[in-house]
Amino acid sequence: MTFNFSFAQHATPYYYYDTDLLGRTAAEAMQQAQRYGYHIHYALKSNANVPLLQLLRAQGLGADCVSGNEVQRAIDCGFNPQSIVFAGVGKTDDEINLGIGHNIGCFNCESEQEIEVIQQLAAAQGKVVTIALRINPNVDAHTHHNITTGLEENKFGIQLWQLPAVIERVKTLPNVQLTGFHFHIGSQITDMQVFATLCQKINEITRAHNVDIGHINVGGGLATNYETPDQLPIPDFAGYFDILHKHLHVREGQSVHCELGRSLVAQCGSLISKVLYVKKLRHKNFIILDAGMSDLIRPALYGARHHIQNLSSAGKDTEQYDVVGPICESSDCFATAVSLPITQRGDFIALRSAGAYGEVMASQYNLRKLPAAVYSEGSKRG
Ligand SMILES: Cc1ncc(COP(=O)(O)O)c(C=O)c1O
Repeated sequence: MTFNFSFAQHATPYYYYDTDLLGRTAAEAMQQAQRYGYHIHYALKSNANVPLLQLLRAQGLGADCVSGNEVQRAIDCGFNPQSIVFAGVGKTDDEINLGIGHNIGCFNCESEQEIEVIQQLAAAQGKVVTIALRINPNVDAHTHHNITTGLEENKFGIQLWQLPAVIERVKTLPNVQLTGFHFHIGSQITDMQVFATLCQKINEITRAHNVDIGHINVGGGLATNYETPDQLPIPDFAGYFDILHKHLHVREGQSVHCELGRSLVAQCGSLISKVLYVKKLRHKNFIILDAGMSDLIRPALYGARHHIQNLSSAGKDTEQYDVVGPICESSDCFATAVSLPITQRGDFIALRSAGAYGEVMASQYNLRKLPAAVYSEGSKRG
């Protein structure tokens, strides 16, 4: 990672976003999707910062939202409401009404009860709402347990055995129009074969149910490279869309959609922190940062590992460190036994590939301040 600005001029900890890299990543994703006429809806849950959303919208992406506030944020950032899809197992009446009021493109519905509520609320607004059924295909994403969503044991989606009854019920509802099937089986999927398996399962499902489906939404999940972020910082979108194209049976007139989050924004963001103390014990050394799990919770939540870089020292002499935050929790640990150049109080440390599921999950635990956001283009927020 090279900085084109002085990272010392901002108070740490803060998120730094390389908007040039994000622009190149989004352009590559769009170019590869467009080879097959596929549509990308950016998953706001991974990062909902306004400058990033504006950039992604300008590149032609739609939006994938999982809360009313995300729908509102997407609209405020200029996304065409018709390009917005809205998933989530627990949409409130207010959130549904917001989506209906804005004529969003599609509600990805996760239960029959939710569809009944949408019917009532759509009727009250005198509208016909387009929906997709989020189907739980029972396909293992072979990723971390906490970010697996497509197994029968998970709370997400409509189970396959429920599908015939739900489809029949929807046909009777005058204010709800079924236009698509939606799937999302998990995140940080590194094995491309998983997407092929998902496509084969989708083919079986669409074949088995005699309903005119206008679109198929395969969800998100493409992984990012956390280990070596400077090698191939742009994910293999060509390989991903190629797999979809090879394995998904698409009928005449049917459109294909995906909801990428992490693969678009992870690499453009780093959490920048300063070393408060270096604590030397008999058997190990601790680097104590001013960033903690309240700023980046992924390591504590999922055991995730981010590449750690000392920005102040590229010295050849290294030492092993446990890199931890200042918060009163033992799980406030970013890495154990990591080899870094000899590090001192005041050094700047980057936790790399933190653009996705980083700042959006920040909290004020321990009454800490939320981290600020700094953009390579120069704007600062927070
Ligand atoms: C419904 C839905 N779509 C898309 C995504 C984005 O996934 P990813 O960031 O792995 O691409 C998620 C995240 O879990 C999701 O829940």
